[in-house]
Amino acid sequence: MNKQRVLTGITTTGTPHLGNYVGAIRPAIAASQRADVQSFYFLADFHALIKCHDPVLVHQSTREIAATWLALGLDTNNAVFYRQSDVPEIPELCWMLTCMAAKGLMNRAHAYKGAVDINKEAGEDPDFGITMGLYSYPILMAADILMFNAQKVPVGKDQIQHVEMARDIAARFNHHYGEHFVLPEAQVDDTVALLQGLDGRKMSKSYGNTIPLFLPEKQLKKSINKILTNLLEPGEAKDPDTSAVFQIWQAFATPAQTTEMRQAFADGIAWGEAKKQLFELINGHVGDAREKYELLLDNPAHIEEMLQAGAAKARSYSKPLLEKVRAAVGIKKIQ
Ligand code: TRP
Repeated sequence: MNKQRVLTGITTTGTPHLGNYVGAIRPAIAASQRADVQSFYFLADFHALIKCHDPVLVHQSTREIAATWLALGLDTNNAVFYRQSDVPEIPELCWMLTCMAAKGLMNRAHAYKGAVDINKEAGEDPDFGITMGLYSYPILMAADILMFNAQKVPVGKDQIQHVEMARDIAARFNHHYGEHFVLPEAQVDDTVALLQGLDGRKMSKSYGNTIPLFLPEKQLKKSINKILTNLLEPGEAKDPDTSAVFQIWQAFATPAQTTEMRQAFADGIAWGEAKKQLFELINGHVGDAREKYELLLDNPAHIEEMLQAGAAKARSYSKPLLEKVRAAVGIKKIQ
């Protein structure tokens, strides 16, 4: 069977939260268990350096994200799970692609343009505080994707443009040097929930409104109690569709449990009671994985071992491809 190749990267800044879990980690782990898919999942630690210049945080996040995916049951026999910086072929390919990528294409990248707009509004120089890392990061992302000839790239909406840029760069390279790269496609799953955070806005590290996935029980309870609600009293009917408590419930509950909770809202369930039930639901859902997560964090050598095994697998693909690409551009032994 010809398996479909799916690849995605996780930038190693921050601790995984419920929004990451529901939106990206849970569907990715489910895909890793499918026989017709070959998935490549990697810790994008070179990408982390674009946003985060704190070495302690980058390292800690790498460890936590690796432990999270392993604890949640990522099937590392079926999926290739590796750390970007363990695959030296990626930055080398990145340079070759950089020499094929139009500067004008990079000028149009949303992340760069957004930063320029903020500077202009503040009356600063347009490029104030913008590094070459931020400017050319779509090329590094293209290298991540093209290195493994991925067909599908599951991403959030904000990343579609980058996958299209990877396609553009691949097409240009193929046109000039011959067919080396598969043209990747972004895969945006509209059915996965975008979770609301504590304040009702999208759960995101940049809003500081997240509920970390593996908080110890007591802290998880506290955090759930902080979800913003209105002032309706027990006994007063509540609107589930505008409630973050209900929305998060829905992301973890079975359809029957969701119907029950909807009814409970109509019947005027107290906010305290709804939150207590939400805590129990989530705690039941993540309890076993949290135990594994804590064991893994206590045994970093094991995490490292898993990553090294993943890197060896990844390099069995990246080395031969890079060898061909090198020859194609004229970088080879003198004969
Ligand atoms: N830039 C992506 C993000 O911020 C992470 C990422 C890096 C990625 N390389 C990738 C995603 C390659 C998909 C494919 O979410």
